[in-house]
Amino acid sequence: MHKSVGIEGATRILVKRDADIVLVCQRARSLAADLKFSGNDQVALVIAISEIARNIILYAGEGEIFIKTVFDGDTPGICIVARDQGAGISDVSLALQDGYSTGGGLGVGLPGARRLMDEFEIDSKVGQGTTVAMIKWNR
Ligand SMILES: Nc1ncnc2c1ncn2[C@@H]1O[C@H](COP(=O)(O)OP(=O)(O)OP(=O)(O)O)[C@@H](O)[C@H]1O
Ligand SMILES: [Mg+2]
Repeated sequence: MHKSVGIEGATRILVKRDADIVLVCQRARSLAADLKFSGNDQVALVIAISEIARNIILYAGEGEIFIKTVFDGDTPGICIVARDQGAGISDVSLALQDGYSTGGGLGVGLPGARRLMDEFEIDSKVGQGTTVAMIKWNR
């Protein structure tokens, strides 16, 4: 994961209900537009964030998402950190496989988000919560 990942200087949005997902997506989209991301990349970013935000509401009840601009030299990117204090994920590599769901879903949210972003990392502890950090670069 790139050294610029983190929550310092980021915009923090509480995620509790569906309307908050819309807010997070709008914020990410406008930041991506400011940074001249292509239309496709803006959509990819928004889909990834909405999946991670949806998981927070479904599996943790509530959480927070931090959004900020980062740079790798001259290359801008968007860094997303999603954090909750829910039940956590007992087997992260299993949760990252297509089709794995404990919630009766398709099980494509996490693996899909990973594919849509350039950098992706999950840190989760059972009983403590889950943090997903991801970056999309505008290369
Ligand atoms: N924030 C979270 N806290 C606890 N468990 C989580 C969290 N996010 C994901 N999980 C676990 O990982 C599994 C896989 O998540 P993923 O988003 O890939 O699929 P899904 O939410 O079950 O279905 P889909 O997203 O396709 O509707 C979930 O079923 C759940 O068990
Ligand atoms: Mg999901």
